[in-house]
Amino acid sequence: MTTYKIPVIPGDGIGPEVIAEGKKAIDAAGEVYGYDVEWLELPLGADHYLKTGETVSEDTLKELGRHRAFFLGALGDERKVKTGILEKGVLLRLRFHFDQYINLRPVKLMEGVETPIKNKTAKDIDFFVVRENTEDFYAGIGGRCTKGLTSQHLKLLREAYSVKFDLDVLTDSDEIGYQIGVISKEGTRRIMDYSFKLAQQRNKHLSSVDKANVMTDIYGLWRETFQEVGRNYPDVRTDFNFVDAVTMWFVKNPEFFDVIVAPNMFGDIITDLGAMIQGGLGLAPGGNVNPEGTSMFEPMGGSAPKYKGLDKVNPIATIWAGALMMDHLGEKEAAKGILSAIEANLREGRVRTYDLGGSSRTSDVGSDVARIIKMQGRN
Ligand code: IPM
Ligand code: MN
Repeated sequence: MTTYKIPVIPGDGIGPEVIAEGKKAIDAAGEVYGYDVEWLELPLGADHYLKTGETVSEDTLKELGRHRAFFLGALGDERKVKTGILEKGVLLRLRFHFDQYINLRPVKLMEGVETPIKNKTAKDIDFFVVRENTEDFYAGIGGRCTKGLTSQHLKLLREAYSVKFDLDVLTDSDEIGYQIGVISKEGTRRIMDYSFKLAQQRNKHLSSVDKANVMTDIYGLWRETFQEVGRNYPDVRTDFNFVDAVTMWFVKNPEFFDVIVAPNMFGDIITDLGAMIQGGLGLAPGGNVNPEGTSMFEPMGGSAPKYKGLDKVNPIATIWAGALMMDHLGEKEAAKGILSAIEANLREGRVRTYDLGGSSRTSDVGSDVARIIKMQGRN
């Protein structure tokens, strides 16, 4: 029997509660599909930061780097640590350190779940967003400067990043803040390759998202690379779309989409909208994938500190992320088993949390999904 060693970072707020249910489902699937998991718990997050002053230590990175995948609950607690420190210092750090360039976010409305989109059903909302996860406006290049520094900064900006438009208008301002988006040809090529391959396994339709009508340099390169890589996949239908229009189509005709590839920031934004049309953040999982390295699986939602300890929030996103993780580790049958148990739980609708109109607890939903996994395994 295979034994997987999987590091797990429960994190802050409701993180530990949802992670417990994710583990429950994965363990239950292990009994049915024949594997064992040894969970290695790592205490990152707000408390760890307050106690030690560190976000992630080199040792922790080294430990995580020994594994193909790890599981993460949620990070950040604005009541304890200023917003941004843990988000950037832990979550983004992990994504960048392990070069998890693929952020895979399924948008799928399950039967039995209500969507706020009128007249749309489960067959209309079923696509993947592939969010580039290491570049764009997340690259961390930026600064703030006051008057004395302004012209010097602008000069540097012009030289270093060939900022072409005229920034002189800003030099009279008392303070400016700037953030530079960077995408690279290679970084774009690899995410496109992944997305085309995913589209080939589905309905062979890939839509690219950009704003190449305004940010012509950064997204011009993105679009060009999309077209270039597309020539290697002649069986995949393609289109490119401006991000503003994409948000409209998510609501108007989500059935248009099969696989979507998006730069980091637009991908961040449209996947929150995606989560809403599939029933809410409580149902939205994500995988941060590096096919050759260490990947991280997490629910898309945040740590919701005000719900901590109430055994109230929906664990389905985390359980679903667990299914993505087991799929990534090669346990395809187990992944299918977990997903079909989620589907059965939602279809039946008896055991559900408050966000879906029910009154069950986090742990009840996790136990119900685990029960269904085992029951389906016996049939
Ligand atoms: C997400 C989150 C993160 C992001 C934040 C918490 C840094 O919103 O995973 O979508 O912006 O990527
Ligand atoms: Mn987000």
